[in-house]
Amino acid sequence: MAETLLDIRHLPKAEAYAALDAQAHAVLEGVTDAVTAMATFSALLHHGLGHLWTGFYRVVEPGRTLRVGPYQGTLGCLDIAFGRGVCGTAAASGRTVVVPDVEAFPGHIACDGRSRSEIVVPVFDWHHALLGVLDIDSARLSAFDAEDARGLERMMAWFTGAERQRG
Ligand code: SME
Repeated sequence: MAETLLDIRHLPKAEAYAALDAQAHAVLEGVTDAVTAMATFSALLHHGLGHLWTGFYRVVEPGRTLRVGPYQGTLGCLDIAFGRGVCGTAAASGRTVVVPDVEAFPGHIACDGRSRSEIVVPVFDWHHALLGVLDIDSARLSAFDAEDARGLERMMAWFTGAERQRG
């Protein structure tokens, strides 16, 4: 494959996410496998944005348990209960959670002591069932804001298949 990983840290966030989204769609042309897509998004986002940990937790027991899926970075926790930590909170509420300072988030799960801020975005399939969450952890305080939420939510729309169905 001729695709190379983009480093988009020099771009304004909206442009950066649009570039990554376009690359993801190009790489995933014709793909319907969710795990393949999770691995691809992890690699693109991790190397594009340069944060500490980038990856997915998948719903293995609806309403109860998330289990680690494809990711890039240091070892992640294996299982997270719905409602626990930032990932569990996003899964339980079905909403994106932006945490500017993990030390101020009650119940944050510290798998890598260097983590200072994070964003977790729920991922839905095309039946609107929760497939899992995308988790990005940064060594910088306040690394994520509403623009990251918008950009990442747009990328995670790949899993609903809406864009692929529109062609
Ligand atoms: N940021 C997470 C857990 C860290 S991961 O194992 C990479 C949380 O509190 O949900």
